[in-house]
Amino acid sequence: GKILFNDTIIERKKIIDIEDRGYQFGDGIYEVIGVYGGKLFMLDEHLERLERSAKELQLALPVRLTILKEKIVELVSTNGLHEGVVYLQISRGVAERWHQFPSDDVTPVLVAYTKVEETLSDAENHGAKAVLTEDIRWLRCDIKTLNLLPNVLAKQKAIENNAVEAILHRGDIITEASASNVFIVKSGELYTHPADNYILNGITRRKIFALCEKLNMKVNEETFTVAELLRADEVFVTATKLDIIPIIKVDDTIIGDGKPGDIVRNIVEAYRHSIQ
Ligand code: PDD
Repeated sequence: GKILFNDTIIERKKIIDIEDRGYQFGDGIYEVIGVYGGKLFMLDEHLERLERSAKELQLALPVRLTILKEKIVELVSTNGLHEGVVYLQISRGVAERWHQFPSDDVTPVLVAYTKVEETLSDAENHGAKAVLTEDIRWLRCDIKTLNLLPNVLAKQKAIENNAVEAILHRGDIITEASASNVFIVKSGELYTHPADNYILNGITRRKIFALCEKLNMKVNEETFTVAELLRADEVFVTATKLDIIPIIKVDDTIIGDGKPGDIVRNIVEAYRHSIQ
């Protein structure tokens, strides 16, 4: 397939310089945008978050958002992507390696490509396992940066334990998961960590809020503890293209009755309708 390189769609080839700051420092930002039936899901929300991440890192977008939006749509249709994601990243650019920002003539480098990915409908229908691990990330988890080493280590731990996700806790408080947000259900109400500096404010998370409002389900943006997670009636995680995965076991603890609960099943159904 083709790729987007700044504002131009080109053949995929090796274009990353060894002195790209994304490569050397993880100095950049990214977005993963879902594509369902050839259509980009919540593209505007992803682009708004991209703009915010850029601002927080004092990184100038190399392409205007309106142009970028058109190019992403064009990339998906050029590559004929039906089910999958667009991965987009912007690094601070290519410059001689010094930690501080390079001079103003160095322009950020944007690349985007498409990737085929199917929905994990088996895990979505039957639920899956998660593991718990300490959240060792920095204190600006609200920025979608390329620095993902703690997330990589956490996800690896999950996979080694036949789990889909690693749920992170900072001390006693559950924050989110290695690449998704975490919700619990207690006495018919939902709880999820507030959108502060400890979590990434997921686009899927926000979609769940909207769906729950329509379904008349109360969502509380409140922290909850490890013990409350383990005692919850239901647990689920949400992210782009992962969609919504009911968690039926955390480490050795069975959640609820070990099957996806009524509330998460209703939300999954509403979500499936919303992407059509
Ligand atoms: N991850 N929290 C973290 C740490 C994430 O990395 C992600 C997404 C989310 C969910 O955000 P959203 O609903 O906007 O996808 C929450 C992407 C998919 C990734 O890194 O592949």
